Amino acid sequence: MNAPFRPQPLTTNETGYMPGFGNGFETEALPGALPIGRNSPQRCAYGLYAEQLSGSPFTAPRATNERSWLYRIRPTVAHWGAFEKVDAGLWRTAPCAEVDLPLSPLRWDPLPLPEGKVSFLEGIRTITTAGDAGSQSGMGAHIYLITRSMEDEYFYNADAEMMFVPQQGGLRISTEFGVIDLRPTEIAVIPRGVKIRVEVPEGPARGYLCENYGGAFTLPERGPIGANCLANQRDFLTPVAAYEDREVPSRLTVKSGGSFWRTEIGQSPLDVVAWHGNYAPYKYDLRRFSPVGPVLFDHADPSIFTVLTSPSETPGTANIDFVIFPDRWLVAENTFRPPWYHMNVMSEFMGLIEGVYDAKTGGGFTPGGFSLHNCMLPHGPDMDAFEKASAAELKPHKLEGTMAFMFETRLPQKVTRFAAEAPQFQRSYTNYGHTLAKHFNPNQR
Ligand SMILES: [Fe+2]
Repeated sequence: MNAPFRPQPLTTNETGYMPGFGNGFETEALPGALPIGRNSPQRCAYGLYAEQLSGSPFTAPRATNERSWLYRIRPTVAHWGAFEKVDAGLWRTAPCAEVDLPLSPLRWDPLPLPEGKVSFLEGIRTITTAGDAGSQSGMGAHIYLITRSMEDEYFYNADAEMMFVPQQGGLRISTEFGVIDLRPTEIAVIPRGVKIRVEVPEGPARGYLCENYGGAFTLPERGPIGANCLANQRDFLTPVAAYEDREVPSRLTVKSGGSFWRTEIGQSPLDVVAWHGNYAPYKYDLRRFSPVGPVLFDHADPSIFTVLTSPSETPGTANIDFVIFPDRWLVAENTFRPPWYHMNVMSEFMGLIEGVYDAKTGGGFTPGGFSLHNCMLPHGPDMDAFEKASAAELKPHKLEGTMAFMFETRLPQKVTRFAAEAPQFQRSYTNYGHTLAKHFNPNQR
């Protein structure tokens, strides 16, 4: 115990997880650590402390009420100290109006991994923010670039729930609730207030991070689709309890109100021996998403590919929709099959995990890259995609080896100074529509 910190290899062992979405889970790392039939016994087993972590107000309706009971070596008040404000690096929080770019669709090449040793906390590059973290509405879209594991360093985010979308390299996210191993095309969601340590056991890692300041991500309604397809509950995995009894000098960093605060503590705060409840981290393999689409003609709205949604107070108007564009068959007859030309009240941040996105076949949108099409800005296929799709023989065609995604929000996204000044910013992207040819001929139908 208490040997120097050594990241362990990522495991493919899926038995360390419990299936389901929003379940009342229960799990214990020592037999009998979990009280039976009550939450707060006079004395907990093994000398543990009981602590409740509430992700919703106590009085939230049953369907959105989220809390867990944690049985831990020390309560969080004992993992506390004199906090000092530390530099936020390139992590920004809404409201954040650093630059005012000309009205334009925006796109970037992938950000390269840095040369030096950069941990998760040092490796966040905020690209956009929307809304206001203080009013618990909106989001932040970030790129993470990680070249070293956090060692005896811990973090929790009071501003947001965090969705990790790895694009290159694996991650291990050790949490108070257990350990999540993650690879590209998987995602993980860490609820607000959950303490974590992020490791890169297989070397440098790059990906996308969505901070959700608003309502917790949940599954979208399926309406007439029925009880199956899209993201199914059983494919979400929550880790089993795993604790650290590690008494070594450690650091806890907390993000609150867009500021970063750090304190020295004498032990690992990942000391939860058992827990039960429905407020917990989870992972999901995007390859398990069962896409639904048109089977005769036309093109469904991309909302048909929503994996998770963060609702707002207005029905059907998401604070964030997390939408993917996975492998799928295209079979529609007499149909322009790529996404259509579009203007939208929602604001769309897109990323590409692997492969080619079918609206951008002309190059410029590569894995690790990202784009922003803000509220009421036009967007659609590039010239290459339009010409090919207009002339293609419409036999069944499978899009393969591709995974693009979108963080789409009802709130306009503001670009950070870092993103506006990054050398990867594609200044010419604003004019991609100019290459579309004029085909109009009033004398030929
Ligand atoms: Fe769109």
